[in-house]
Amino acid sequence: MALKIIDYGSKEYQLMVNLRYEILRKPLGLQFSKDELDQEKDEILIGAFEDEKILGCCMLVKTDAKTCRLRQMAVINKLQGKGIGKALMVFAENLARDRGFKNLTMHARKSAIGFYERLGYRVIGEEFQEVTISHYVMEKEL
Ligand SMILES: CC(C)(COP(=O)(O)OP(=O)(O)OC[C@H]1O[C@@H](n2cnc3c(N)ncnc32)[C@H](O)[C@@H]1OP(=O)(O)O)[C@@H](O)C(=O)NCCC(=O)NCCS
Repeated sequence: MALKIIDYGSKEYQLMVNLRYEILRKPLGLQFSKDELDQEKDEILIGAFEDEKILGCCMLVKTDAKTCRLRQMAVINKLQGKGIGKALMVFAENLARDRGFKNLTMHARKSAIGFYERLGYRVIGEEFQEVTISHYVMEKEL
């Protein structure tokens, strides 16, 4: 498996958007808007690949000088629970650290809190709704 940064607009980016749609949006009956995808050109896009096939992905967006937010973490259904998500997180954390960020945060789906807790993140604040489901802000010092 290769972990790498994806160029916005590339063939790999299209594979990433398709994966995110299948795992994160379609089950909720939601789609990506053009505006939403347009904004991604300024984000750090990360993918896990086996040859030409995308296995998982996530993204990093700067929120302030010290902090960036991880979003759109997804692993293809049949490969979940095999360490791909953890490998993506470690890769994303190293990238964020190399770029000078001190904290990493995310809007974690309630169902994924245990995954992030195992990686050292803690819940901050109250439950809130996003894309129709319950989320919590989680954070870790890098
Ligand atoms: C959540 C997700 C990204 C985790 O990736 P993954 O490749 O399945 O996770 P890993 O195999 O790397 O798991 C790492 C550890 O977290 C645990 N874990 C994984 N998913 C978990 C979950 N949902 N809840 C609690 N623990 C979880 C694993 O058991 C493993 O524990 P271990 O290190 O003690 O063995 C993936 O399951 C997924 O895409 N889920 C659907 C989309 C989603 O919810 N994305 C997150 C949005 S915030």
